[in-house]
Amino acid sequence: MAVETLDQNERQRSQYIDFWNSVLVPKFIRWKHILVDGLTMHSEAIFPTLAVKPGDKVVDAGCGFGDTAIKLAQLVGPSGSVLAVDCCDAFLDFGRKEAVKAGVTNITFLDEDVQTYPFEPIHDFCFSRFGTQFFENPVAGLRNMRKSLKPGGVMTMIVWRGIKG
Ligand SMILES: C[S@@+](CC[C@H](N)C(=O)[O-])C[C@H]1O[C@@H](n2cnc3c(N)ncnc32)[C@H](O)[C@@H]1O
Repeated sequence: MAVETLDQNERQRSQYIDFWNSVLVPKFIRWKHILVDGLTMHSEAIFPTLAVKPGDKVVDAGCGFGDTAIKLAQLVGPSGSVLAVDCCDAFLDFGRKEAVKAGVTNITFLDEDVQTYPFEPIHDFCFSRFGTQFFENPVAGLRNMRKSLKPGGVMTMIVWRGIKG
């Protein structure tokens, strides 16, 4: 059966997503300040060089607490938009609240599996900060992120090693 024919319940009925939500969410929330502060050092280093411009449509894959999605939404401005996807709605709730506080209205926070969500190929840019290496199936995840891009779209991911291995 093609992925696109699965409904949300079928897509999300995975032990891996259950594990994230039941085991990792409480730990990540407990240590959020250390996690987000530490990871922000890496994203701050590359944000000024990102191929993102006002008006762009952007995906933030495995966006976690949503801080990078908010920064991307500010970069693309009100004529652009960000689809911030994570498989843990408890993380996305932080992002929703922070976006309201920041007055950012051009983000959609979506509780979905990046590996299987039927993205429309309409995005200019796909971003992930330490999201891609946590996929259950990295090949499926990266292929699906590619599907979110329109021709000529660009993907940038931050991971724990160099591109040459
Ligand atoms: C190390 S955290 C990074 C979160 C965020 N990007 C950051 O830099 O703070 C990895 C994130 O990927 C999410 N994730 C892992 N597998 C996923 C999947 N298949 N679909 C959507 N999100 C996923 C997790 O829920 C978690 O929020």
